[in-house]
Amino acid sequence: MARNFSILSSALLIIGLTQIGTFVAGGNIGNTPRVPCYFIFGDSLVDCGNNNDLKTSAKANYPPYGLDFPTGVNGRFTNGRTIADLIGQLLGFDSFIKPYATATDEEACKGVNYGSGSAGIREETGSHLGDRISLDRQLKNHEATISRISAVQQNQEVTDEHLRKCIYIVNIGNNDYINNYLLPDQYSTSKEYKIEQYAEVLAQQYAEQLKTLYKLGGRKIAVFGLGMLGCAPAEMERHGTDGECVDWINDGVMLFNDRLKPLVDELNHSFSDARFTFINLTNILAPKAGEPVPTKPCCPVRPDGQCVPDGKCCSSRALSVYLDSFHPTEIANTVLATRAYTAQSRLDASPFDIGQLTREVIDA
Ligand SMILES: *[C@@H]1O[C@H](CO)[C@@H](O)[C@H](O)[C@H]1NC(C)=O
Ligand SMILES: *[C@@H]1O[C@H](CO)[C@@H](O)[C@H](O)[C@H]1NC(C)=O
Repeated sequence: MARNFSILSSALLIIGLTQIGTFVAGGNIGNTPRVPCYFIFGDSLVDCGNNNDLKTSAKANYPPYGLDFPTGVNGRFTNGRTIADLIGQLLGFDSFIKPYATATDEEACKGVNYGSGSAGIREETGSHLGDRISLDRQLKNHEATISRISAVQQNQEVTDEHLRKCIYIVNIGNNDYINNYLLPDQYSTSKEYKIEQYAEVLAQQYAEQLKTLYKLGGRKIAVFGLGMLGCAPAEMERHGTDGECVDWINDGVMLFNDRLKPLVDELNHSFSDARFTFINLTNILAPKAGEPVPTKPCCPVRPDGQCVPDGKCCSSRALSVYLDSFHPTEIANTVLATRAYTAQSRLDASPFDIGQLTREVIDA
């Protein structure tokens, strides 16, 4: 039996809206952020324009994307702010962290957003859509950023200390399923690995990449598990489930999350001068019994699941989970970011939520 799925229970909506709403109304201008810097790694859930000049069909630099963003169209794969933007605001930053593609040296000291739509943990992921910045390449870019920061600060110790205080979020892996394993005509992974093996192989590669981030000086690292990809309108449509989530996809993804969580605990444990934490997006999106599954994206979509350029979106964006067939609306992102930052329970984030991560004191 397919599970129901809804994140927009009115209670959550209110929590999300008041917390972020206060921020927007109160304005954070002049406040000091809780950490000096914030670095973002990941895919289209966090991309803020890195794909705009890449040769790929995975870009969102046309309307209706950006419809509700203060400065309009910008390359984000949602109508407003991404989960990374919203966490940045909760951290107290008064402007959004800039994309790697355009950040100046000064801006880079506050953090960089490396996210790239269609990118994955695996190098080949998303290649049928065109170019993308895989997690390995994002880590290389981070190395380059560190050199730029050192050049500004002119003191390696100061830079090391600076990097230790930053928050790092990593939100990737969706495309290793959506734009790899689940496309057997384009990718060979489903022939090479059973879905259990694939979860293992992916989690192992991811663990190495997270260690690289540690080696590059990261000490406060939040790792996002995957949400219920089998409930994305595109997957329900592709598999003809008639409005029910695709259970075998959700089960496969859960195997990955179940591998990832102990790996994150292990990293937290073995690097005692670092804090790694796991954010459980599936729990935050947990189904509420009796609520209907949101099956329809808010905007008209192309066959690839992205919005039709200039398509007319639904007016009830504040009540819709999906903008296109894969990507959450700003309001859904608000719920996710709010609970990643302040967990309602250990199930949302463990062992730390991002708010707690900011307060952890890391000894050199
Ligand atoms: C995470 O690491 C900290 C510091 O080493 C430790 O106190 C804590 O028990 C660890 N938590 C887990 C779940 O391993
Ligand atoms: C995440 O949350 C879901 C839903 O509550 C739960 O079933 C799952 O075990 C959790 N996953 C991890 C890795 O903690």
